[in-house]
Amino acid sequence: MRKTEVLTLLREKEDYLSGQELCGRLGVSRTAVWKIINQLKEEGYEIEAVQNKGYRLLASPDVLGESEIASRLHTKWAGRNLIFRPVTGSTNTDAKKAAEEGAPAGTLVVAEQQEAGRGRRGRGWFSPEGSNLYFTLLLRPDCAPDAASMVTLVMALAAAEAVRKQGLDAGIKWPNDIVVSGKKVCGILTEMSAEPDYIHYVVIGTGMNVNQMDFPEEIARTATSLRKEKGERIVRAALLADVMERFESAYETFCSTWDLSGLLAEYERLLLNKDSRVRVLDPKGEFEGTARGINAKGELIVERPDGRTEYVYAGEVSVRGVYGYV
Ligand code: BTN
Repeated sequence: MRKTEVLTLLREKEDYLSGQELCGRLGVSRTAVWKIINQLKEEGYEIEAVQNKGYRLLASPDVLGESEIASRLHTKWAGRNLIFRPVTGSTNTDAKKAAEEGAPAGTLVVAEQQEAGRGRRGRGWFSPEGSNLYFTLLLRPDCAPDAASMVTLVMALAAAEAVRKQGLDAGIKWPNDIVVSGKKVCGILTEMSAEPDYIHYVVIGTGMNVNQMDFPEEIARTATSLRKEKGERIVRAALLADVMERFESAYETFCSTWDLSGLLAEYERLLLNKDSRVRVLDPKGEFEGTARGINAKGELIVERPDGRTEYVYAGEVSVRGVYGYV
């Protein structure tokens, strides 16, 4: 797409980019370049045009769209095959469909709004338009199905680090909620299609409350957004590109061992439950203890009051803080 190419070139160059260079790089006429620049301006991009110097990108609107996302991606494979939907039911459902139709690993489905956003444990995920991020990444890991749930923790790490880069003190509530000031800003839903010993595909769906200011009453106590916490709007496409870059690198580390051993230290540094009292809601029997960290399989290490150590697997149970949400 020409628009994507123009945006990419403008972003690469911090200084002015001459009209002549743009024409040369794109292989189009000056009039064509001028038309694309005008189109971008109409979409809300602030582009300065100075005679004899060229064009310079001053500001981008917070729009989510194919060009906006693609022109910011510096990944090798994550998000390179991009499916953008202004409105959809659920990006997880779309990614699964794309997977069934043969889409490659790294395919990213992004929506501006979801009408049937899904959360963990059969809950919904509030997905209004214009302010948040809803995206699902398709992977085809060549590992045993029981290792696949760990990719959720890899995404949690990438998302938490990207939020921290925005200047917010984000942490992870095991296994994969991103929390700022004791409230949730991001949730992840991973789904898989597999045989007993072979994975067809995994989709990791992430919902991030970015610029939303008001929340429905039922979640207002436990949810917040990056904008509410930071006091500033955040450019969603830039944040998404940052998550993708961090995920790609962390996932490659994961794939070198098919466990979290190479990411353990980083994950634990951000783990909010570490050394706190937790209540483990295990269907086989609830118990309390002190969370000590995670092991290479991503299980939460919980020390019981009698000194016994339990390894809690994310798929089966959830964990609550004894003194609050975390
Ligand atoms: C959770 O309950 O914490 C997980 C929420 C996951 C929401 C995201 S939004 C993008 C993707 N599509 C969905 O329908 N759900 C996930």
